[in-house]
Amino acid sequence: MVLKAKNQKATVLVIDDEQDILDLLSITLKRMDLNCITAATLEDGRNSMSANTIDLCLTDMRLPDGDGLDFVAWMQKDFAHIPVAVITAHGNVKAAVKALKLGAFDFVSKPVDLNWLRKLVETAIKIEAEDLAEENLHDKKGKSILGQSDAINNLKTLIKKVARSQAPVHIRGESGTGKELVARLIHDIGPRADQPFIPVNCGAIPSELMESEFFGHKKGSFTGATSDKLGLFRSAEGGTLLLDEVGDLPLHMQVKLLRVIQEKAVRPVGGTEEISANVRILSATHKDLLEKVKDGSFREDLYYRINVIDINVPPLRDRNDDLFILADHIMQRLATEQGLKLPILSEEAKTKLKHYHFPGNVRELENLLERAIALSDGQQIQSNDLMLREIKTQSNTDASGLHDILNVQEKDLIEKALAKNKYNKTKTAKELGLTLRQLRYKIEKLGL
Ligand SMILES: Nc1ncnc2c1ncn2[C@@H]1O[C@H](COP(=O)(O)OP(=O)(O)OP(=O)(O)O)[C@@H](O)[C@H]1O
Ligand SMILES: [Mg+2]
Repeated sequence: MVLKAKNQKATVLVIDDEQDILDLLSITLKRMDLNCITAATLEDGRNSMSANTIDLCLTDMRLPDGDGLDFVAWMQKDFAHIPVAVITAHGNVKAAVKALKLGAFDFVSKPVDLNWLRKLVETAIKIEAEDLAEENLHDKKGKSILGQSDAINNLKTLIKKVARSQAPVHIRGESGTGKELVARLIHDIGPRADQPFIPVNCGAIPSELMESEFFGHKKGSFTGATSDKLGLFRSAEGGTLLLDEVGDLPLHMQVKLLRVIQEKAVRPVGGTEEISANVRILSATHKDLLEKVKDGSFREDLYYRINVIDINVPPLRDRNDDLFILADHIMQRLATEQGLKLPILSEEAKTKLKHYHFPGNVRELENLLERAIALSDGQQIQSNDLMLREIKTQSNTDASGLHDILNVQEKDLIEKALAKNKYNKTKTAKELGLTLRQLRYKIEKLGL
């Protein structure tokens, strides 16, 4: 039974022009002890929205007087707090993705799987009942996103918004900017908070074990499979899977992952049956995924599936306002942990920090303050205690300088491998662990 706060019955509006579907859905919803209002056109739907207190909307895509997507967009204007989901034709991934981008929180495809629908409705109403609009965002461990800059405030607003949705979110940002923290918050303040949050570093699993790590295996399905294994997807059932460094997934796994996301079901290695999987997919990377799509090492279709909502976590050097808020907080934590008096930063140390460009972002700030406290006299941190890496801070020269160095090395490696393999590209690619397409791209890019 799904109850709203104060034990009132929740009301669901269903918009569809097929009477059969309206009947089926209203019976299902009423059995869940919900009120159900139906509408056969968008206009009916809009009128019902205005005349009733609705807690959740489900709308078909093609209606006599317009498109379900228009309804989703309309809802965002006047009823942005009410969740809306769309009913899509089977396999119409494009439409589903569009709806999620417009603000729908989820979709069901036809023919409607009633179990799936029940879960979707339960989740949506649970969000309604819980007040998510907390001012201070913090995860279960009490960690919060610190900062007052516009960039951080926008980030917090976005996190609250996407926490309600079931859409896949891709989190981009330099190393140490807080991507994992963002992912945890999305999970912890959303309706899946009571279920597992499982982060997995895609770059750390050996390629040949990946399928079994992700999807599990049956006992005896290969040498070493001495018992059944659940796999990451099924361990995250009902919750969230964070695919960290998703750009490192080998191509064969990208294909499999795409299938699982589309079918919402996994097949363990050595198993014959598909097992339905209700897992929200978050992903993160510090690399430029679009660049990887262009050079052929990341599938475009998967890119669009995991990147329905894109969150960019800004580097620390671009939000100077936050630097000392973070530094104060970190020093307080360290002092408490180590039972020390709260240290202070000398004026010179502050100036140095202000002009430092923090290639390792917040994590680097944490590390260097910890070191500085250890090196300091126990009262004041001097600029020498910071031991900053001396890198020129002129705008952008660092990044492009690094690119130049890497390009030269890469060019050298490829040239040598080509010569060794008598300019046979297939052999060269193999030796370098690249696909032929990647090699061609690099040859083109490096002007070889
Ligand atoms: N805005 C913030 N407020 C408070 N702590 C932060 C913030 N951003 C990052 N941190 C802290 O900085 C550290 C690094 O964050 P996190 O591990 O989420 O970074 P990441 O982007 O995933 O890094 P990587 O790319 O190296 O995996 C963590 O201890 C995290 O709690
Ligand atoms: Mg990380």
